[in-house]
Amino acid sequence: MIKLHDKYFVPYVTATELDEVVSELARNLKRDMEGEVPVFLSVLNGSFMFTSDFVKKYDGDCEVSFIKLASYCGTESTGTVKELVGVNQSLKGRSVVVLEDIIDSGNTLEVIYDLLKKEKVKDLKIVTLFFKPVAFTKKLKIDYIGKEIPNRFIVGYGLDYDELGRNLPEVYQLKRKKMINLVLFGKPGAGKGTQANFLKEKYSLKHISTGDVFRFNIKNETELGKLAKTYIDNGELVPDEVTINMLKAEVEKNLDAAGFIFDGFPRTTAQAKALDELMQYEGMQVDATIALEADDEVLIQRLLERGKVSGRSDDQDEEKIRNRFTEYNEKTAPLTEYYKKQNKFHSINGVGTIEDITERLSKVIDSLVAVNTMKDK
Ligand code: AP5
Ligand code: MG
Repeated sequence: MIKLHDKYFVPYVTATELDEVVSELARNLKRDMEGEVPVFLSVLNGSFMFTSDFVKKYDGDCEVSFIKLASYCGTESTGTVKELVGVNQSLKGRSVVVLEDIIDSGNTLEVIYDLLKKEKVKDLKIVTLFFKPVAFTKKLKIDYIGKEIPNRFIVGYGLDYDELGRNLPEVYQLKRKKMINLVLFGKPGAGKGTQANFLKEKYSLKHISTGDVFRFNIKNETELGKLAKTYIDNGELVPDEVTINMLKAEVEKNLDAAGFIFDGFPRTTAQAKALDELMQYEGMQVDATIALEADDEVLIQRLLERGKVSGRSDDQDEEKIRNRFTEYNEKTAPLTEYYKKQNKFHSINGVGTIEDITERLSKVIDSLVAVNTMKDK
């Protein structure tokens, strides 16, 4: 771990991996540049190190030129891009290859496109070492991407945090506060939503209920809502691909949260694997899966009771409710083993007063928080 100004950063991309990524970018570009002498246009300051390594690995004639743009202040992109040093040679009729260290919002790239439009270049290609797909808001072409990364602040290998860190030969990521990520597990009506509402306040966690997100979309008649409606109405699971993509988007919108409560996700092995991958990509993990246990007959009574007032289509008749149980038994129950193998499975009695159950859940969560605090020290 390193400290720059007031912040801590942890190792993220090694010098060896950077070397491989840059070599491959140079090779791929060369292959597409037959018979051309490109002008590499390096975007300062960030890309000085990338440019230096890239051109050494580019096996062919080339020219190198620089422009200087600035859009960052601290760890936040300011949104406005200032041109500090412009293009200082004629690029008319030339094959220009822009070398960027990182593309996130795309604001700088937009300015570059505008700048080069005026230059009447013959051909323009964009090469970036890093790309943040989640942060990218523009419809602009990027021809070569070295490595896609999550929307987190990085330093090193030319990239800075308030001017420090550019000289580091490897890339570091801003250290994240220790998060607690929980999966609330249990049959329909087990009390996942009810308990999540208390736990999110108590532990300042972001509650993501895939069922709630689907219902929100159905209410607003979005494409996603239309797609999900028939499945939900019949008490069947919505297909994995749709659900996984939706969950990813919800997580990525809330990366500054202190942690997540996943309610109603994952519900299949494919979803559990996707969640593990997503957590790993974002530098987090599922800390625990807590199951709320209750008998079917108790649950059916709860849901039919709720159905009288909630208007939820899947709470209206016993047959649909039983179908939700069947889906659970066939597709979701196997996840118990999945999480047991990871030593993350906890089970508590879901029958009793709501306060008692919150208390039982809190005991499990408090023990996790204690372990995490010890690890952090
Ligand atoms: P979802 O919204 O997740 O519904 P569910 O899993 O069927 O569970 P519920 O929300 O009905 O129950 P809950 O455990 O949250 O209990 P609650 O706190 O509300 O999913 C709906 C549908 O969306 C699915 O069928 C599927 O089609 C789709 N979907 C969602 N996620 C998906 C995914 N990952 N993949 C694919 N498809 C997906 O409590 C229930 C009732 O009991 C309430 O009235 C409450 O007041 C009461 N209650 C709670 N606790 C107690 C208690 N201790 N004592 C007495 N009453 C209680
Ligand atoms: Mg619920």
